[in-house]
Amino acid sequence: MDGPDKPFSIRDLAPPNVRAIAPYVPGKPIAETARELGIAEADILKMASNENPLGPSPRALEAIRGALGVLHYYPDGSGYELKAVLSRKLGVAPENLVLGNGSNDVLELVARAFLTPSDSAVYSQHAFMVYPLAVQAIGAKAIEVPARGYGTDLEAMAAAVRPDTKIVFVANPNNPTGTFNAWEEIGAFLERVPRRVLVVLDEAYGEYLPDALRSPTPGWIARHPNLVVSRTLSKAYGLAGLRVGYGVAHPEAAEVMNRVRQPFNVNHLAMVAACAALEDHAFIEKSRAVNAAGLAQLREGFERLGLEYIPSHGNFITVRVGEAARVYGQLLREGVIVRPIAGYGLPEHLRVTVGLPEHNARFLAALERALRKA
Ligand SMILES: Cc1ncc(COP(=O)(O)O)c(C=O)c1O
Repeated sequence: MDGPDKPFSIRDLAPPNVRAIAPYVPGKPIAETARELGIAEADILKMASNENPLGPSPRALEAIRGALGVLHYYPDGSGYELKAVLSRKLGVAPENLVLGNGSNDVLELVARAFLTPSDSAVYSQHAFMVYPLAVQAIGAKAIEVPARGYGTDLEAMAAAVRPDTKIVFVANPNNPTGTFNAWEEIGAFLERVPRRVLVVLDEAYGEYLPDALRSPTPGWIARHPNLVVSRTLSKAYGLAGLRVGYGVAHPEAAEVMNRVRQPFNVNHLAMVAACAALEDHAFIEKSRAVNAAGLAQLREGFERLGLEYIPSHGNFITVRVGEAARVYGQLLREGVIVRPIAGYGLPEHLRVTVGLPEHNARFLAALERALRKA
């Protein structure tokens, strides 16, 4: 009811699609948990945000130290150096690249550059939360396709494309389920989806795939100009706090995305660190090895506890614990932060980030105690 008596609310100035947005809930921060529990931050174990338990790439840290003296300058808004490194590494032209303040930024740039309120976008049930958020921020129609065995059902996704569909988001591997679609399946999907529909392939966890499953997709863009690949330095490269990611796309798609990008969306330290981290092959190999061993340790632990889990291709694993909210609270009281994923339609599961062997052991012991208290 409008009228002189209706109290004015600033919130009403926002369009209905923005008012309806349920904000993204990140993993609980270490400092906040330490304050609430009255214990030291060093005693908190955070396995909630798929961060790298090894810390940042050492070569990135060294590069950052060398770059501190020029922080009074704006960063290079064109990202020339980082694009040169990526272009060599991926075998694409700098014109194929869009840099983002995290790959989250890249996902939002695609939505902002191409979607209008009269369009729709397709994504899977249990898919990464940023897709619905990006679509809703525009006021476009979201089409969520039921998952198959927790994973992305590419046939159903292709069938869900409508005349008004502009974007399909696919995470491979997906977060929070860790499920993976074979690249041949993704290739067949690209053949099926009309060329007027952008396919955004989110490969945030691609570095964790074993050699035999490594992503070939940047090389597919010439054949599929509607393909946009997004990747991040937040996970295997250990630079989540700096915020840097990138998109690989057809030059025309990249050019349009760059138009809606903030001129200095990636900061100088992030770009300098990314250039160094991308060449830090020893660190990436170590991250991959620690992750593979940690996943095996967690799987064995879950099997010992008789818990069902979703086999994961990422740096996290999702396990069915029953009353997840209660188990989460119990773990928190022991200073172990994991991620409840009821917001992803999985109220009986918890997602845990793979840690170092001692982290995984501490988590499994705490989980065992939490389950006994059920
Ligand atoms: C599937 C997926 N895509 C993208 C991101 C965004 O990461 P960032 O913005 O740190 O690159 C995440 C982060 O958790 C993710 O899980």
